[in-house]
Amino acid sequence: MHRSKKVILIVICVSLGFLLSKIIPNYNQVKYASIVTGHPEATKIGEYILNKGGNAVDASIATQLALAVCFPRAGNIGGGGFMIYRTKDGDSYSLDFREKAPKKSTKNMYLDSIGNVIDSLSTHGTLSIGIPGTISGIFDAHEKFGTMSIKELFDPAIELAENGFLINERQANLLNSYKKDFIKFNPNNKYFIKNSNWKKDDTLIQTDLANTLKIIRDEKRESFYNGIITKKIIKSLGDNAILTEFDFQNYHSIWRDPIKTKINNYNIISMPPPSSGGIALSQLLLMFFDLDLNLKHNEVKYIHLLTEIEKLVYADRSKYLGDNDFFYVPTNSLIDKKYLTNRVKKINFSKPTPSANINPGELNYTESEETTHFSIVDSYGNSASVTTTLNTNFGSKVFVDGLGFLLNNEMDDFSIKPGTPNTYGLVGSEANSIEPEKRMLSSMTPTIIEKNNELFMVLGSPGGSTIITSVFQTILNVILFNMDIQNAVNAPRFHHQWIPNLIYMEKNSFSTKTIDSLKLLGHKIKERETMGHVNAIHISDKMYVGADNRGSNSASILFNK
Ligand code: GLY
Repeated sequence: MHRSKKVILIVICVSLGFLLSKIIPNYNQVKYASIVTGHPEATKIGEYILNKGGNAVDASIATQLALAVCFPRAGNIGGGGFMIYRTKDGDSYSLDFREKAPKKSTKNMYLDSIGNVIDSLSTHGTLSIGIPGTISGIFDAHEKFGTMSIKELFDPAIELAENGFLINERQANLLNSYKKDFIKFNPNNKYFIKNSNWKKDDTLIQTDLANTLKIIRDEKRESFYNGIITKKIIKSLGDNAILTEFDFQNYHSIWRDPIKTKINNYNIISMPPPSSGGIALSQLLLMFFDLDLNLKHNEVKYIHLLTEIEKLVYADRSKYLGDNDFFYVPTNSLIDKKYLTNRVKKINFSKPTPSANINPGELNYTESEETTHFSIVDSYGNSASVTTTLNTNFGSKVFVDGLGFLLNNEMDDFSIKPGTPNTYGLVGSEANSIEPEKRMLSSMTPTIIEKNNELFMVLGSPGGSTIITSVFQTILNVILFNMDIQNAVNAPRFHHQWIPNLIYMEKNSFSTKTIDSLKLLGHKIKERETMGHVNAIHISDKMYVGADNRGSNSASILFNK
């Protein structure tokens, strides 16, 4: 190159570097940053915050609020969730902003006088609502780790609610199919109701929600738990509800110690109770690697083995897991290697063991679809893995009059009657029975994985009971089968949860030969449209993102050096 051209090029490069270092505060140290969420508008807002120099917690807060606007079937301010956060220095934290049962709730509140479950009472309407935790989680996370102002983090979602966004086809169909419920459970408001049907590219404007977010932005946590919003929620719910102002005043999100499990050179960091996710995922991985077998991805032997392990894990879940603040969860015993080695010995390699012959393990201890997940790594090297939900689509279907947001139906995650399956077919016992102010058991599994103590994966999924097995199989796809992260999250999945005694398999994803061979072994198969939406980030030589192709998930890599 000619010398003068070279000089010009150098000057341009230096100026560009200078310019970038002004726009992106830590540009010089930046290696990478990325975000994967359930909706492109939420990804855009998280990306905007990361670009402004926000850290993973800042971006999580803005993303959570954005999802409440653009992904209202699961994104929320009236629900709850869990976050795993790992700092650039390798310290990890978990934040529990799960809902709680109202003070006036009772063990048999969903049963009639002869002890039968009353249809839909725990899933629809005012009695299905738990005390929301999301706003508390946002302010707790911000207080401990946030670097940008609350205003900067709330404003993008407020703008999105005020100006509206174009709904996609899936959202249009969903809004149309829930219209009857919205009318039935909201006599005093018309949120999400249109005279004609919703269509792809219609604009959804949510003025009341925008105003609610402005109140929370300006009056902070207090407005939601002991202020104007609390009062409006209680008034809107009417006389049949059992939620009171007392419930809101006494709600607190909680920082807990994450579940940490070491498998070879990997550290798995995941959510402790009241989610079953971390313990169940650890059990699955520890049992699988205990067997030390050479298997091919989704071959018959692999599916057989994984489902036999899954049965054992979900049997334990039914007996031992609940809110540790109310019922002693023997965490260390459940993930004890000797205990799990003994459990693995129960597996028959050539034949499925009927679920009826499987019981929760005997522990030697002294007494006690619709969610959404996003993964973020910021430019400083911090990472956040957040799963958040209203429980089923649009939660209780109950909007708060005048405030424009939906409340959860998380009460259904309790074991409403021992042995009676919930929405996800999960059964439970005393550990997860209803008690005032107790948190209902969850399957949410926000997870961060280290390899050789360095950040390696950030992932999680929606999907009720299938969350745990979706995360499990995605991890194996990467660490065992060396798939790139996009293929790992897209790969066909299957699931067994002990009861019912069925392998759920994704439709049109497995060959007839595989299905027939599993049936020949004695497995019962049920096909399902899809299972989970895993949104994941993988860090190796560079950063890679995987937005599950099952939904409207979207990913963005900001920098990648
Ligand atoms: N609501 C689904 C879960 O928490 O597992």
